[in-house]
Amino acid sequence: MKLPESSTWQRTHYCGALRVEHIGKEVDLLGWAQRQRDMGNLVFIDLRDREGVVQVVISSDKKALLEKAKKVKMEYVIGIKGVVKERAENLRNPNLPTGSVEVEAKELYILNPAKTPPFVITDPPQATEELRFKYRYLDLRRPSMQRNLKLRHQAALTIRNFLSEHGFYEIETPFLTKSTPEGARDYLVPSRVYKGRFFALPQSPQLFKQILMISGIDRYFQIVRCFRDEDLRADRQPEFTQVDIEMSFMERNVLFNLIESMMASVFTLIDAQIERPFPILTHEESLEKYGTDKPDLRFGMEIHDFSKLAPRLDSEVIQKAFSSGGTLEGLIVEKGGNFSRSRLDKLNQKARELGGKGIIWVKNSDGFKSSLKLPENQLSLIWELGGCSNEDLVLLVADEKQIALKVLGGIREEVRPEWVKTSNDFRFAWITDFPLFEWSTEEGRLVSVHHPFTSPEEGDLGYLESQPLRVRAKAYDLVLNGTEIGGGSVRIHDVSLQKKIFKILGLTHKEIGEKFGFFLEALNYGVPPHGGIALGFDRIVMLLAGEESIRDVIPFPKTTSSLCLLTGSPSEIEERQLKDLGIKIIK
Ligand code: AMO
Repeated sequence: MKLPESSTWQRTHYCGALRVEHIGKEVDLLGWAQRQRDMGNLVFIDLRDREGVVQVVISSDKKALLEKAKKVKMEYVIGIKGVVKERAENLRNPNLPTGSVEVEAKELYILNPAKTPPFVITDPPQATEELRFKYRYLDLRRPSMQRNLKLRHQAALTIRNFLSEHGFYEIETPFLTKSTPEGARDYLVPSRVYKGRFFALPQSPQLFKQILMISGIDRYFQIVRCFRDEDLRADRQPEFTQVDIEMSFMERNVLFNLIESMMASVFTLIDAQIERPFPILTHEESLEKYGTDKPDLRFGMEIHDFSKLAPRLDSEVIQKAFSSGGTLEGLIVEKGGNFSRSRLDKLNQKARELGGKGIIWVKNSDGFKSSLKLPENQLSLIWELGGCSNEDLVLLVADEKQIALKVLGGIREEVRPEWVKTSNDFRFAWITDFPLFEWSTEEGRLVSVHHPFTSPEEGDLGYLESQPLRVRAKAYDLVLNGTEIGGGSVRIHDVSLQKKIFKILGLTHKEIGEKFGFFLEALNYGVPPHGGIALGFDRIVMLLAGEESIRDVIPFPKTTSSLCLLTGSPSEIEERQLKDLGIKIIK
């Protein structure tokens, strides 16, 4: 079905754009019937398009038109010619931006009927995520999804314009390439021409952007898809988008300033004021104060060190932790004195899930109460050191320092004040001075905390071989409201240092040559000092849109089990294709 050729149909307005200033205007609208209500001699259709919904009224004095309107069902595609009218005062809908007007239809065309959709297209969604992902094209018709995709477009445009104005060139790098180590597994693509050989989809364009610096590009960026085969969470997808940035002759302050200014421009899209400069916390400080390297700075609640009280507390748990070199760390939950027993039990459970042995709580509403059987004078020592008031709650962990901090970091998120969730505050922070390496028990070797191309701090170079875990990296993360939205570093531009790092990571001479030979070769030809960052674009849009999962800002996301339910991928392939690729499947 199509619009009659003889007519002068041309969309004049988007449905969602109609306002009181359009009253009296003749309009042509095209969209989907979100809802049809048949009142006998009146039919109402809520007509939806990209910009929103407007009410259309078809009345009985146009019999043929009324009959046609009665045939319209949910999600039919229709065209309406009509006049914008003011709604009577008592019929206005304050919840709808177009709620003060309606369109009186003069003509109606059914362009395409629709099967009854498997779920009603409404916000908030009523169907399961599984069903919505299968029918993602219907799910994307929801106003909030349309808004999110628009915001995503605007954010990308703002970033592109900003970086271009600051002298950055957008340059594409290959998708069919060699593995770039970012800590996840690779997605591999078999080569048909060279059987038994594989391309890897990039985990990031890290090596290409460094090579572009060697090529003299000076300032590069790319809004680019990256691929990582790793466990998925609300803020992780197997394919996601980075704003990837690299600069030659770069100084950390210049980069920080640039990114801060770019984020401020992006957040004007939602009229948010960003406080600058962003605070800088070292990795160690962040762990000690917040128990995490991605602190949510919208609220305080810093971790306190209660260790000095430990010798005076007659508790077996605490003494045991201390005798094996542990600490006593705690959180003061303001007005947490009213936490119920079951909430405290849940926190105890959470502490165990986080790797601790549990949590000690102390209250003082009607005299001291605690999960530890300690005399009152000892509990009051805790109270005094914490500077607590009667309505507060103290949560303590006695354990190895690293575990105690991690547990309290997780607990801090659990007990954060209610207002934080709905606050419109955006608190950024730079986290710096990460360790260069960490020990991987899984792999039984040192691994890079960021990636192997990150420069060590000059002052720590002497420890590279003797005490590698002591070496700090010239790396930084950007954190916003408890989410890591970016990471980067100053890079190694000295070929011998790069080789040394590979060796410390346990790579053999042969492996170094096979995996990174091309890159090491490039490092011999006049490399400018350089560095950069990559921002998680999906996470930024998620926070801009006030969503809790990046799945809500990605048009066609995968499920948490890495499936695309819309297309049914990954799927098996034909025997002939396997043969072409020289691949045999072992079931
Ligand atoms: P990194 O691995 O820290 O750094 O990635 C940069 C940012 O990308 C986002 N991110 C993700 N977003 C969604 N799903 C994922 N699976 C996912 N993984 C990462 C995060 C993260 O902060 N090459 C370096 C950057 C550099 O050194 O310049 C890199 O990729 O927000």
